Amino acid sequence: MAIGVFDSGIGGLTALQALVRALPGADIVYLADQANSPYGGRPGEEIVELVREGCERLFDRGCDLVILACNTAAAVTLRRLQQTWLPGYRARVGRPVNVLGLIVPTIEAATGVAWNEELERRDDKIEKLDILGIFSTPATATSRVYDIEIAKRSDAVAVFSEPCATLARQIEAGEDDAALRPVVEAHVATLARRIGRPPDRAILGCTHYEIIANLFRAALPPGTPLIHQPDATAEAIQRYLVRHPEYAAGG
Ligand code: DGL
Repeated sequence: MAIGVFDSGIGGLTALQALVRALPGADIVYLADQANSPYGGRPGEEIVELVREGCERLFDRGCDLVILACNTAAAVTLRRLQQTWLPGYRARVGRPVNVLGLIVPTIEAATGVAWNEELERRDDKIEKLDILGIFSTPATATSRVYDIEIAKRSDAVAVFSEPCATLARQIEAGEDDAALRPVVEAHVATLARRIGRPPDRAILGCTHYEIIANLFRAALPPGTPLIHQPDATAEAIQRYLVRHPEYAAGG
């Protein structure tokens, strides 16, 4: 049994690194669909097909659990695959298989509200709104998954998304800091202009951006907390495996 980790390219390696630390004995297979990378500007139906094929390849390789270490894939396809494809696929292969994403763990970390917890709506006035900036691919931003799911869990957090159209492709191509810095700075400035001030906290909502987290840190006001998606995901998977030992990988 192994855990599959999937991304369009190298971004998911940031999640892989955290997973290896959290699950030292686990067998993990990483699949980067670099032939079709980047996903972030593609139409939704194409992304669904590519992610489904990627999951099938990982299941064929002996994985029982696949982690979509790609916000774009998770935002656009996860619910759809879980509802319409996985049940039939499980019946066909005759074993339990599952696909999980990294957006749920990130939202749990951002709001402090567990996925199955009810939000307690407060009647008292919110003293200070927590402005959360999310940098992502255009497909993730268009899905509005962060906005919708965070709004369900916290009325004290306001989400502002900044789609970064070229960044994943540039990182995948190995462009250096000198080329990437002005792009990151421009996105941070655009977001701050739209909000009217810089965000209080930020999420790098594309796993590729974690590779250049230092550039985001430098462009944001000093000390702006970045919610660390790889660690949030690895911790959530650790908890999931305790609840679902049938997916524990290793050996
Ligand atoms: N690493 C990806 C993400 O988290 C995908 C980037 C892309 O392929 O556009 O969104």
